Amino acid sequence: MDIFTRLQDIVTSSRVSNDPAELYCYSSDASYIKGTPDYVVMPRTTAEVSDIVELAQENRIPVVARGAGTGLAGGAVPLCGGIVLDMSRMNRILEIDIRNLQVLVEPGLVHADLNRALEPYGFFFPPDPGSSEMCTMGGLIANRGSGMRSVKYGTVTDYVLDLEVVMPDGAVIRTGGMVMKSASGYDLTSLMVGSEGTLGIITLARLKIHPLPEARAAVLAHFNDLEAAGRTVPAIMEKGIMPSACELMDSTTIKAVNMYDANLAIPDCEAMLLIEVDGSPCSVESGAARVAGCCRELGAFNVTIAFSEAEMKELWAARRLAGAAVTRLNPGRTRVYIGEDVAVPLSAIPEMLREIRNISKRHGLTIMTYGHAGDGNLHTGMAIDTRDREQWEVLKKAADDIHRAALRLHGTVSGEHGIGSARGIYMNQEHGGALNVMVSIKRALDPHNIMNPLKVGLE
Ligand code: LAC
Ligand code: ZN
Repeated sequence: MDIFTRLQDIVTSSRVSNDPAELYCYSSDASYIKGTPDYVVMPRTTAEVSDIVELAQENRIPVVARGAGTGLAGGAVPLCGGIVLDMSRMNRILEIDIRNLQVLVEPGLVHADLNRALEPYGFFFPPDPGSSEMCTMGGLIANRGSGMRSVKYGTVTDYVLDLEVVMPDGAVIRTGGMVMKSASGYDLTSLMVGSEGTLGIITLARLKIHPLPEARAAVLAHFNDLEAAGRTVPAIMEKGIMPSACELMDSTTIKAVNMYDANLAIPDCEAMLLIEVDGSPCSVESGAARVAGCCRELGAFNVTIAFSEAEMKELWAARRLAGAAVTRLNPGRTRVYIGEDVAVPLSAIPEMLREIRNISKRHGLTIMTYGHAGDGNLHTGMAIDTRDREQWEVLKKAADDIHRAALRLHGTVSGEHGIGSARGIYMNQEHGGALNVMVSIKRALDPHNIMNPLKVGLE
């Protein structure tokens, strides 16, 4: 029996396709990486995933899991063809267990849907990616994602208690349990978080949840000096204040966001910090005042504090616009996500910001910089005419310079978007001998290399 017929037997014919038009839809994510699968399958159960993986193993066919395709590094793009597992049909919340402070979810669940379901209970799942309304929990976990609130609440790593994983031979394992802590054996949960589908397919996730804070406030501070804004970030932390979010936008981002939505009317300046504090009403009031004071000390002007939900919603909406807004600066151009996710130690933020400015000048390329400055994670935005080869070359050189600058400053090439195939070439420089250990683990668990091949710089 051929592979297509066997896949139809496993998931019924309505959930498998080899129609070229359908396959095309699965040949890219939100990055510039491309690769077309031979089959797309939409499993509904762990047993189906296991049967598919077993079939793939028997026939040495690559298997690539995909959530919503919002990835920015090509992680879900099938570079060697094979089977794409579209996990979006497995999107249920199976348990909301407030007493044990946890939920059990399927990997295709959209992130924002989890938080909408938890809100009536007064709880939330803190990691808050920019793509919250689209990205899936499986993708977030597989890429060790985070977002706006990791500065205080940590990344997805800190919230995974247990994963059900279909291993490369089709075996189904659980990596953890219901307990809040465990000193039992190797930490396979952490190994799977961020493994980008190269070691197995996540089919269930048990996640810790957190009570919603009683109050929140956002401090908005404008600067006429980008590096001063960068210096303000560690200065706030040094004072012992732990913001629940600390986002930076440089002048280019501000211009782009204002062009996207003129109602926002952000003052024209070199940089803006959006700093959120949360907790009890008293602590929020004093925390916000201390943050505002610190911003002023470091040269901020027009420092305001928003306490109302409506105002804060507007501010966060403006921040979420940043990614899309870059194209307003260069109509007709397309944003290419490349070199967009470096993270550096907090003390190196001003230097990284300076480096990006210099790289922009050197290559004559507009680069906007924004992101989660509170944990040193800076996003860059660049837009080109993608039909123009020369512009591509300039873009790639600029991205390479950004990556190398981050590594020089003891940073990483990816704070939260993952390595995929876009950043594999930096893995050796960033990890040295540790990359050999990663390769050994990969070979031991997936000797025939069927799980998302050519990713994470493992080959
Ligand atoms: C953000 C995405 C790009 O923070 O990570 O908007
Ligand atoms: Zn981000």
